Amino acid sequence: MKYPKEYLDEIKTRLKVSSVVSKTVKLKKRGKEFVGLSPFKTEKTPSFTVNDEKEFYHCFSTSEHGNIFDFVMKTQNLRFGEAVKMLSNLAGMQPYTFSKQDQERENKWKLYKSICNNFSEFYKNELFKNEKSIKAKNYLKKRGLSGLEVKNFNIGFVTEDLDYYEKLNKDFDEEIIKDTGLFYFDENKKKYISRFRNRIIFPINNISGNIIAFGGRIIDDNKNLAKYINSPETPFFKKGSNLYNLDKARKLSNKFDEVYLVEGYMDVIGLSKNGIENTVANLGTALTSKQIQNLNQFYNHIIICFDGDQSGYKAALRAAENIIEELKPDKKISFLLLENNFDPDNFVNKLGKNNFLDFSKQNSIPIHKFILEHYLKQTNDSPSSKAIFEKKLREIAFNIKDNYVKKYTLEYFLEHISELTPNINSNYSKNFKQTVKSLAKTKNYYNETKSLKSYEIKEFSFLYIILNKPELIYQNFHLINNVKLYSNENKQLYNEILNQSENLSNLNIEKLKVDKHLIDRVINYASIKHLVSKYSNDNDKILEIFSEVIQDLKGYELEQRILDLESKFSKDLSEDTFNELKALKKLQKIN
Ligand code: GTP
Ligand code: MN
Repeated sequence: MKYPKEYLDEIKTRLKVSSVVSKTVKLKKRGKEFVGLSPFKTEKTPSFTVNDEKEFYHCFSTSEHGNIFDFVMKTQNLRFGEAVKMLSNLAGMQPYTFSKQDQERENKWKLYKSICNNFSEFYKNELFKNEKSIKAKNYLKKRGLSGLEVKNFNIGFVTEDLDYYEKLNKDFDEEIIKDTGLFYFDENKKKYISRFRNRIIFPINNISGNIIAFGGRIIDDNKNLAKYINSPETPFFKKGSNLYNLDKARKLSNKFDEVYLVEGYMDVIGLSKNGIENTVANLGTALTSKQIQNLNQFYNHIIICFDGDQSGYKAALRAAENIIEELKPDKKISFLLLENNFDPDNFVNKLGKNNFLDFSKQNSIPIHKFILEHYLKQTNDSPSSKAIFEKKLREIAFNIKDNYVKKYTLEYFLEHISELTPNINSNYSKNFKQTVKSLAKTKNYYNETKSLKSYEIKEFSFLYIILNKPELIYQNFHLINNVKLYSNENKQLYNEILNQSENLSNLNIEKLKVDKHLIDRVINYASIKHLVSKYSNDNDKILEIFSEVIQDLKGYELEQRILDLESKFSKDLSEDTFNELKALKKLQKIN
């Protein structure tokens, strides 16, 4: 059975070719592309290129060419199904399970897509051809949109064509048309009516560029009608995970580090018209973590620029509190607050691209600062107000998932909290310094740990437990049989430990004949340090943690052995090596 295209596309859009390839080939950026040494041939000058925008790699010396699936199939000797499993896992997706329901959903999806397309094409045409669309055309002109924007964003106008449902119904069942949410049943007229009639429509695409929903705007001011309506949630349109224009904006992530996240359709179109195309919109609904995760697949820096009115500010604040938990060390979220009731659309139309970009450069503030400044403004001199302030900020910081960012943000907040209490400030900061390292120190710590290899950190944990619980480990000596360390420095320390005290029971750290720095590294960076102190009286728990650490180390060892064998195999091409390699890969899958 075939994997649905929707599923494969999702993998492709989540994983850049360069990020998949760079796991095995060292890539260098060159213009829009990446280059590196061909994995298909031994060579000294790079002839292998990767293009994320076009979603393929190409090797000029062997003419090998393909997408991410081809790449892992060829370089790792996998069948298609295996490649899909591996890459979906890398993309953080659930493995695909084929069932009757899946097949049904896949069939439904094809029809759904087709209806949305027909609908869009039909009413695009109506905008140009139907005389009754003159008002809509004038409206678009008045908003400063030219034919180019209308075409780029596939804008249409839903005329009062009362028979369009019947037309569709000739080719599609009622059930599936209902699923698209494009029509509702009018009980009086006893017929299906287009939800978007008399509205300009903006197709909303999924990440791979298929239309899945619409937004519609009225063209004359009418207080009784909602200015905008969107499609309802459907089996294929989930509001909390979709972003308007992401299908186009994601393709620019090689050119720009940042993406603008705005409120409305017209903001995206207005910015784009003025040459700022790295823009998406969340369409007036509350911003979700899922949307941030989706954006972060492509962009490192998200600049949220909502309307410069009260409701835009409130939405921005709510967004900030919702999404700060997603912050990662290598990602940035900023807020750009507009003034004077500007929204991005009228700002850029009035003042132009460069002014918008300059304004953005000078006024974007990082998310933690935005939150802090908001709550500072809310806080007065009363103890309870200060208490609320501290409680709120601690709560926000504690929700951050990444531990480093959590720590850093908490420190940032706490430093400002201590400024609110000048009288006990000296005391407070003394305590504060004892419990939390200073900001500079945290930064150092972070930079240093960044340069450590992941296996080194695991080795630290391994050594840390031995240094702290030598007797316990001695009693369970079988656990450390066959454990191999990779970092030379850690190896040196490990050997010295075993040398000094064969039975570990009388281990004396002071007397180890190694550079003290090696021991300090273990003590500073062992990531399980806190667990060890938390469970210091619970030997079973410590052994459980220890076993997990060893399991990780062995996984790494296996990976190394496979890499060694792969390079051996590429030289000797012997069947023995090949069989050994196959056996190890099998083992790796079991683990
Ligand atoms: P105009 O410039 O007036 O066309 O609109 P805008 O792009 O400035 O939109 P606005 O700031 O009023 O709203 C931002 C977004 O919120 C819109 O693009 C819509 O997605 C959504 N929105 C606005 N008004 C409504 C409404 O009445 N109902 C619904 N469901 N959504 C709305
Ligand atoms: Mn607006």
